Amino acid sequence: MRHFLTLLDFSPEELNWLIERAIELKQMHKRGEVYEPLKNRVLGMIFEKSSTRTRVSFEAGMAQLGGHAIFLSPRDTQLGRGEPVEDSARVLSRMVDVVMIRTFEHEIVERFSAFSEVPVINALTNDFHPCQLLADIQTYVEHRGSIKGKTVAWVGDGNNMCQSYINAAQQFDFHLNVATPEGYEPSAFLVKEAADRVSLFRDPKDAVKGADLVATDVWASMGQEDEQAERVRIFRPYQVSRELLDLANPDVLFMHCLPAHRGEEVSEDLLDDPRAVVWDEAENRLHAQKALLEFLLCQEE
Ligand code: CP
Ligand code: NVA
Repeated sequence: MRHFLTLLDFSPEELNWLIERAIELKQMHKRGEVYEPLKNRVLGMIFEKSSTRTRVSFEAGMAQLGGHAIFLSPRDTQLGRGEPVEDSARVLSRMVDVVMIRTFEHEIVERFSAFSEVPVINALTNDFHPCQLLADIQTYVEHRGSIKGKTVAWVGDGNNMCQSYINAAQQFDFHLNVATPEGYEPSAFLVKEAADRVSLFRDPKDAVKGADLVATDVWASMGQEDEQAERVRIFRPYQVSRELLDLANPDVLFMHCLPAHRGEEVSEDLLDDPRAVVWDEAENRLHAQKALLEFLLCQEE
């Protein structure tokens, strides 16, 4: 039994296989092929934070694969009233076949998975968002081919997305330039572990030089709402605009996991620029996670 808490839980070979499989499942879906390997299988989805893409892609993905998904929020489960994570893991995993969790501390998904009898998927914690990276890499591969040996620039907050990009740089073998304001760098431990794959910058212009892909994310993540005003002031020089992309390679792509704040981390017009592939990126959450669910649940079949 396998869990998917970070990209480091899978080997580079497995991850590359997932990307190819996601592309294949997408084509099958577009052709209208019915493929239901997860008939009678159930996904439990625990959301302690809001979501549009993650919820809909997992729920639609399970339906398309012939299975079912149950949405669980702390507002109406005993988890929200203090039932321990370990007890919830033991109970839920006796009823469903796979669990997906979006929560705050990364340690919560680790504790849940330690007591779960079924695979656990991290659907975003304060530290990582590995499912989004599957979609991002799929999107890059579909538009430009292999990402191996390419240069990716991360501009903005050294947050959960940035940290999953660090994991991705290690696993998919690309170089990551990270430009953040002082004090907002990704974890020093992660940077050290990936030292040969990651370079830290202060100036976004330096980071995007030679980049094949530029990515950013909101300046205040879920749970940081009271820092919003201060962050908008500090991150102002980190807005990604058409002019900033002009400094990258001519065939650069732009990605954002969404939701985006136009006028903050992206200029008003950036998502309409032909270099932005954010809608494909959002769609690929569906296909990449279908590949992940199939991988986790159909291995021995
Ligand atoms: N990118 C992403 O995870 O979006 P949601 O918060 O809408 O799920
Ligand atoms: N960094 C953002 C990503 C949202 C998908 C957050 O954690 O809120």
